Amino acid sequence: MTRTGPGVLLIVTAALTGVLCCSPALAANPLPDEASPPAAMVWTAPDQEAAKKRAAEVVPFVLAVMDECRLCRQQRLRDMGLSVQDQSESYSLLDSPIIRETEDHYGPVRFMHAKHAGVTKDCALCHHYRPLDEAASETVRCSACHQEPFQKDHPERLGLKAAYHQQCMGCHREMDKGPIDCRGCHRKNVPDHKDHLQLVEGAGPFQVTAECLRCHKPAGEDMLKSAHWLWKGPSPYTLDHRKDVELGKATIATNNF
Ligand code: HEC
Ligand code: HEC
Ligand code: HEC
Ligand code: HEC
Ligand code: HEC
Repeated sequence: MTRTGPGVLLIVTAALTGVLCCSPALAANPLPDEASPPAAMVWTAPDQEAAKKRAAEVVPFVLAVMDECRLCRQQRLRDMGLSVQDQSESYSLLDSPIIRETEDHYGPVRFMHAKHAGVTKDCALCHHYRPLDEAASETVRCSACHQEPFQKDHPERLGLKAAYHQQCMGCHREMDKGPIDCRGCHRKNVPDHKDHLQLVEGAGPFQVTAECLRCHKPAGEDMLKSAHWLWKGPSPYTLDHRKDVELGKATIATNNF
């Protein structure tokens, strides 16, 4: 018994190191197979492509607007029984080329259309005017009437960005609900990495990390100051329960790539 004890421990330790550090299986195939992830992991909203396509459209500018007081319009739309069923999309991505022509600091803004109509219960709060043309819909897109700012013939109409900012944030402020901070609506403009990574087939962990650092040097430097890189400490679980053993990435760990 006394002779087999340390032997068993050594085998266990060897098995553990194998799993944690140098398993042949891991070394041979260090990354999950990116070419064919399990089907369940690849999920995109079915209407995402359609939303992107709509976001890229520029609709013809509406020259004349029906003259109607706000309350009259609200009442009229209510009488018409306009409801969530009349919304063509339950959500949109707002990313208009009209704005993008001059600024593109962020990714598309997600707008939960049906949720907003459900919560505010009033289409006319946002769809505040309609075209004079009787054949037009009651609820045309904002970008039909709000396009570039400072239009000579329509100085009263805000540009599209200001129209959104004023209406979206105005209501959020008034109702004390919904985001008014920039990050609440805007996400970073993150490029599709598939188009930018330069990796040879079967690249190992060192090559992948080096490739990320080519563009993300500051993030790499931050990482070197963090506990993920610097952790160490006594480990009570090693051979003979030696409390003074210092293990960790900052000392003797072998996976510091
Ligand atoms: C909180 C504001 C808001 C409310 C409330 C709202 N909408 Fe909208 N709606 C929008 C915005 C913004 C767009 C434009 C999206 C775009 O351009 O992609 C839009 C677009 C639409 C469109 C598409 C127009 C087109 O020509 O393609 C329809 C239809 C529509 N809304 C119907 C409704 C109906 C019906 C209601 C009430 C049940 C409603 N909306 C309530 C903000 C709102
Ligand atoms: C059919 C044309 C039309 C559509 C569609 C339209 N607007 Fe307007 N909007 C106007 C006009 C006209 C004015 C100027 C009103 C005035 O004379 O003060 C205006 C003014 C505004 C203003 C300034 C403050 C105010 O309420 O008068 C904001 C903000 C605004 N629009 C946002 C939007 C947003 C957001 C949408 C889409 C949900 C939208 N508009 C859709 C015609 C339109
Ligand atoms: C008429 C009032 C009103 C207008 C106009 C409005 N919102 Fe909202 N918004 C709300 C309310 C109320 C909530 C809170 C909904 C909830 O969580 O119950 C909200 C929540 C949100 C949220 C957080 C929750 C979510 O659905 O993701 C986002 C993002 C948002 N709004 C974006 C927008 C954008 C973009 C616009 C302009 C195109 C807009 N809102 C215009 C009333 C409004
Ligand atoms: C309630 C939602 C909301 C909030 C909060 C908000 N924005 Fe926006 N913003 C929008 C929408 C909607 C657009 C138009 C998106 C489009 O069609 O391109 C926009 C467009 C922009 C654009 C031009 C498009 C781009 O990608 O560069 C800039 C810049 C911008 N916002 C800056 C800000 C800043 C700065 C803040 C904070 C002070 C802010 N926004 C807060 C909704 C919001
Ligand atoms: C060719 C340049 C390039 C390469 C190579 C690259 N990235 Fe990026 N990455 C960017 C840019 C540009 C952004 C968006 C702006 C930003 O966050 O700096 C970004 C953003 C990101 C974000 C989102 C950050 C956030 O705050 O939302 C993550 C996560 C990311 N990259 C991970 C990686 C990883 C992991 C690798 C290596 C496999 C990698 N990137 C390689 C250019 C690159």
